[in-house]
Amino acid sequence: MKKLINHALVMMKNAYAPYSKYKVGAAVLTEDETIIGGCNVESSSYGLTCCAERTALFTAVSKGHLSFKALAVASKNGGTPCGACRQVIWDICGDITIYIADGDGNLFETTSTDLLPDAFGEDMLP
Ligand code: THU
Repeated sequence: MKKLINHALVMMKNAYAPYSKYKVGAAVLTEDETIIGGCNVESSSYGLTCCAERTALFTAVSKGHLSFKALAVASKNGGTPCGACRQVIWDICGDITIYIADGDGNLFETTSTDLLPDAFGEDMLP
């Protein structure tokens, strides 16, 4: 998992966050052990910003991956995924391990189920 977490930390450096200055990196581990990263990309029209977690997941899906084992998220102070990302993580990954890293080497391990209990999901759609 060290490789996955390191990838998220490296991705953080690519963050395009001129407005918030809050840099986030993410990396997702696919079923076939491929690691795909992403960072937050902000817009001057703030609502168009894409979080690091969704950048990583959408990139992975674009590359043809649909099965995931873990996700790592890195930021200076170890922020956890926002509500929108929690929904997207649940929809695309189901129950996976999530590692949250900060800039001081601290690590917090959780799961997508713990981050979004009683989630809405595809099984609720007609
Ligand atoms: N951000 C993420 O990339 N992931 C999250 O889960 C929380 C927030 C980004 C969005 C924005 O660019 C900045 O952090 C401040 O909200």
